[in-house]
Amino acid sequence: MTTITKNQTTIVMKPIFKLGTLKQRFWRALLSNPDSYISRKVISFSSYIEEMKWKKRLQNAGVSKVYEIFTYTNINELRALYRLASSCPQGAVALEIGSHFGASSCYISAGLAKVNGHLFCVDTWHNETMAEGEQDTFADFQKNTYGVKQQITPVRKKSDAVSTQDIKVPLNFVFIDGDHSYEAVKSDFELVQQWLAKDGIIAFHDFSNPDYEGVTRVIGEALVSGKWKIVGYVDTLVWIKPATWNKPIWVK
Ligand SMILES: C[S@@+](CC[C@H](N)C(=O)[O-])C[C@H]1O[C@@H](n2cnc3c(N)ncnc32)[C@H](O)[C@@H]1O
Repeated sequence: MTTITKNQTTIVMKPIFKLGTLKQRFWRALLSNPDSYISRKVISFSSYIEEMKWKKRLQNAGVSKVYEIFTYTNINELRALYRLASSCPQGAVALEIGSHFGASSCYISAGLAKVNGHLFCVDTWHNETMAEGEQDTFADFQKNTYGVKQQITPVRKKSDAVSTQDIKVPLNFVFIDGDHSYEAVKSDFELVQQWLAKDGIIAFHDFSNPDYEGVTRVIGEALVSGKWKIVGYVDTLVWIKPATWNKPIWVK
């Protein structure tokens, strides 16, 4: 604002246009009324851009048809898996327990591609514990993960039979989504702890889902033990780290 005094009259000149201020006002106006026409247009345009980015990321990774794969893991959770995997160190090793038709495997592999990582997928591919009943899902898994097959090693066995002969350790990232009973989740969690890298992450699916109390109980017990801490969650996906790790976690 400029003040000019002329013939004892003070003229206050308000700036008509000031770039920084205008930008700030625009965003303030936008955020103060998210229901306005312009806000809705801007929000839908940014969502469109975001969707295009995801399409490109998945296309580049070779899994453009991942949207067609049947899964109980929702889109926010799948994208969080991608981000967790892409935030791993170079040459990272990841392990997934419970791959089903390969939806989460595709997202994790796509993320790992950013850091030249590798994913070990453990599943019986007999669809045990699933609502649809037992069936052989391996051919579908292979077809669905074809675009990332160089980055995936399938380990077709029960998770409690997995050893370091089947996978590479230490593990930078683990995703537990197999048998959801308390005993099985506890056993999977105990199994992978011994192989976790110092700054490794363990993610669980179905935390706080009333249908799978065992998952919530295992995570609760881990936190109560004081040895683990939650570092993030998206819907029912929760990821934890050893409590000794106190650096901030950046998810790209
Ligand atoms: C919920 S699905 C996995 C979903 C997948 N992560 C996704 O997001 O699309 C659970 C999978 O665990 C497998 N499974 C069940 N019990 C298992 C066990 N003891 N060991 C290994 N895999 C098991 C089933 O065959 C099934 O494919």
